[in-house]
Amino acid sequence: MILVTGVSGQLGSLILKGLSRIDGLEVTPGTRSADIGTARRIDFDDPATLAEGFAGVDVLVFVSAGYAEDDVVIARHGAVADAAEAAGVRHVIYTSLAGSGDLMTIALPHRWTEARLAAGPYDVTILRNGLYTEVPVGLATAGAASAATTGVFAAPFGTGRVSVVAREDLADVAVRVATETHQDLTSGARSRHAGKTYELEGVTAIGGPEIAKILTETLNQEITYQSVSLSDTREALSVSGLEPYQITHTISLFSNLKAGLLEARTTDLTTLLPTAPRPVHPHIAAAVAAGGYHSQSVTTHPTPA
Ligand SMILES: NC(=O)c1ccc[n+]([C@@H]2O[C@H](COP(=O)([O-])OP(=O)(O)OC[C@H]3O[C@@H](n4cnc5c(N)ncnc54)[C@H](OP(=O)(O)O)[C@@H]3O)[C@@H](O)[C@H]2O)c1
Repeated sequence: MILVTGVSGQLGSLILKGLSRIDGLEVTPGTRSADIGTARRIDFDDPATLAEGFAGVDVLVFVSAGYAEDDVVIARHGAVADAAEAAGVRHVIYTSLAGSGDLMTIALPHRWTEARLAAGPYDVTILRNGLYTEVPVGLATAGAASAATTGVFAAPFGTGRVSVVAREDLADVAVRVATETHQDLTSGARSRHAGKTYELEGVTAIGGPEIAKILTETLNQEITYQSVSLSDTREALSVSGLEPYQITHTISLFSNLKAGLLEARTTDLTTLLPTAPRPVHPHIAAAVAAGGYHSQSVTTHPTPA
């Protein structure tokens, strides 16, 4: 049986949906949600749910639960590794962070989890997910109203670009790896993906000028890109209502971006996907257009948070 954690989340729900379409697979959803239906209750912060929830699981699709301080994330991911061991799970597939993000602060709990899983008795596959397309989508939509008024898209990118990937592509890879692992285990073999670490970096890199170009086309007016300093960004974030750890991670992302570290040179994405990766530019343009931003309507549309 395959169990997927975090199925009320965006990535977990896509993985569950993909696995549910495949004939002959026994797939069980795992969630903290109270409204669980046929799902098992899986809360990494409550190890009792893991002891029960992992019973009879052969393949665990472990979706990271990263929204917290590092010590919290490490404790919850360590509890998953312990419980999978105790329950006799045969193969763990973990959604980690791509190698280009190695120097970002969010890498620390991911790399800790990879090392902890490698010390377990089960086979492991690490899916090192690239940054989601939502990063430039969020910046473009957040900056659209101001760009429509001022003609300037301001963001802390410097001359850096970030390689991004659609969640749907990452889910498709997870579905393939989980399905093939299940097939291999059922036929009495080890998974062909055992011991593998896949770098699932996006094939499209987006920087400030690219977002300004998309805004120019979508808003139908000339928009130029202007880089913002990290100190101005930190000041703005400090009154944004974000948790302190989120500010640390956000500044770290921009710091890496400005340093040119988030543009990937290689990826396993294209080898593992059945078709070309989903395009990124139309996704950003559609999100801006869906916000209804254009110079005439800007006074009636608030900037999204
Ligand atoms: N590559 C990237 O750009 C990027 C960006 C942001 C985050 N991430 C990481 O990728 C993960 C999946 O992304 P996403 O887009 O699906 O995020 P999401 O929509 O926010 O979903 C995260 C899910 O994690 C589960 N979760 C949270 N705390 C948990 C806990 N204590 N125990 C068990 N499950 C818990 C929850 O599912 P249930 O409510 O069903 O339990 C939650 O819905 C995130 O959690 C984060 O670690 C990656």
